[in-house]
Amino acid sequence: PVLVVDFGAQYAQLIARRVREANVYSQIVPHTITADEVAKLNPSGIVLSGGPSSVYDEGSPSLDPGILKLGVPTLGICYGFQVMAQQLGGEVANTGLREYGATAVTLAAGSSTLLGEQPADQTTWMSHGDSVSKAPEGFTVLASSASTPVAAFASDEKKMYGVQWHPEVKHSEFGQQVLENFLHRAAGIPADWNSGSVIAEQVARIQAQVGTSRVICGLSGGVDSAVAAAIVHKAVGDQLICIFVDHGLLRQDERRQVEEDYVASTGVRLVTIDAVEQFQDALTGVTDPETKRKIIGREFIRSFENAAEALVLEAQGDGASIDFLVQGTLYPDVVESGGGTGTANIKSHHNVGGLPEDLQFKLVEPLRTLFKDEVRAIGRELGLPEVIVGRQPFPGPGLGIRIVGEVTRERLDLLRTADAIVREELTAAGLDQEIWQCPVVLLADVRSVGVQGDGRTYGHPIVLRPVSSEDAMTADWTRLPYDVLARISNRITNEVAGVNRVVLDVTSKPPGTIEWE
Ligand code: XMP
Repeated sequence: PVLVVDFGAQYAQLIARRVREANVYSQIVPHTITADEVAKLNPSGIVLSGGPSSVYDEGSPSLDPGILKLGVPTLGICYGFQVMAQQLGGEVANTGLREYGATAVTLAAGSSTLLGEQPADQTTWMSHGDSVSKAPEGFTVLASSASTPVAAFASDEKKMYGVQWHPEVKHSEFGQQVLENFLHRAAGIPADWNSGSVIAEQVARIQAQVGTSRVICGLSGGVDSAVAAAIVHKAVGDQLICIFVDHGLLRQDERRQVEEDYVASTGVRLVTIDAVEQFQDALTGVTDPETKRKIIGREFIRSFENAAEALVLEAQGDGASIDFLVQGTLYPDVVESGGGTGTANIKSHHNVGGLPEDLQFKLVEPLRTLFKDEVRAIGRELGLPEVIVGRQPFPGPGLGIRIVGEVTRERLDLLRTADAIVREELTAAGLDQEIWQCPVVLLADVRSVGVQGDGRTYGHPIVLRPVSSEDAMTADWTRLPYDVLARISNRITNEVAGVNRVVLDVTSKPPGTIEWE
């Protein structure tokens, strides 16, 4: 793999993704990793990430100096570039000159392995206080900017390279090319990591792990569990049994898509548990969001465990056993829960609607090394329906936390219709790529006055909450075109009885969360 050394900024994951976009497998490691540990991983390249610190700060993140002596081709970025400069005998100065945001750099004359034949004047994305004031001996200076004499350096002999700017950020005009030049030209790593190779590798791993045991998987209707189950099915066929709990809080058509489209395209054996009544009874009279989450979580586990128990008995009757449970854990979850550098996270509630940790099954996690966009690519490669693979994130507690007030059947029906209209119009306008997700929220406890025909109405507002985001940790509200908003508003107020007002949420996160509850 290519190792991305995380110096504690939010950039490491982005770098890891860009490396993979160059069809090279990457893995994030903390900066506390030792040279021995690096050597054991046998990397084909190393990228040192940026970070929030100054190399002069007390306790600023450091790097085992042995790592740069292993002879592994290395690219330093921003803070990583400065750490590299310092360890190799160059100089880093606190010049008092800072560069933040779009910054012009000028390349030295001639072509180079790292910067290829790029234009001499280009825009890059910078974010630094300190600067490299002198390149290490034997290194060539490749670029400079107004306040940085050494904005990039290289030694083809040592296979060591560095840039002060952030090539992983799209605002750096030729950023991806810098990464690809490093990977393919400087380090000589082939571009052979892709959906097909990931599937082949996972299938072999799953077969070895599972053997002849049966395996169960909870499908939520979302992308992750759908793709995880499809890979496992490819590996062990009918040893896999999927469980789908219909809690009545799904969106329009979701159950049919799982039961018909997904099953038709994968051939998995599916057991649907119709728990609509059970959830409805449990939610009656409840308005507090956290209580809703707890109830939905509890009822979900109850339904799933009952279904699993029945399957265990069935297996025993067949002289088989169920030892494994499939989970759609993704790489960002792995990094954030200790695989990375322990940056604070506010995602603890996101497993609500998931399974407890003390199940008696061993876990099969075929997506543990993958980012979301890669999971989608693999789903497409496996032939899953686009309605499932392209689906936006949807919370486990479903529409239950999108009704501000008590959850009733009538309100769920109303919200489902409004939500379907919004999704249809956003897709028709070609906006799915721009939007991370668009919660549609029913303010059931608020009433608004309206006029329709000759009469006065007293109905409810619907809130549109379209957001753009990279990872749901932060988000901005999406600037939807007015004509699309107008169409959505017209259709909802005309087609959804009981709604006489459509409002747009224009709050970023923070301070607002994405969901209303
Ligand atoms: P917030 O509202 O915290 O949401 O900004 C961030 C992301 O998490 C989703 N979300 C949940 N997902 N169970 C889930 O599985 C939950 O209880 C839950 N609450 C929020 C939300 O849709 C968004 O993608």
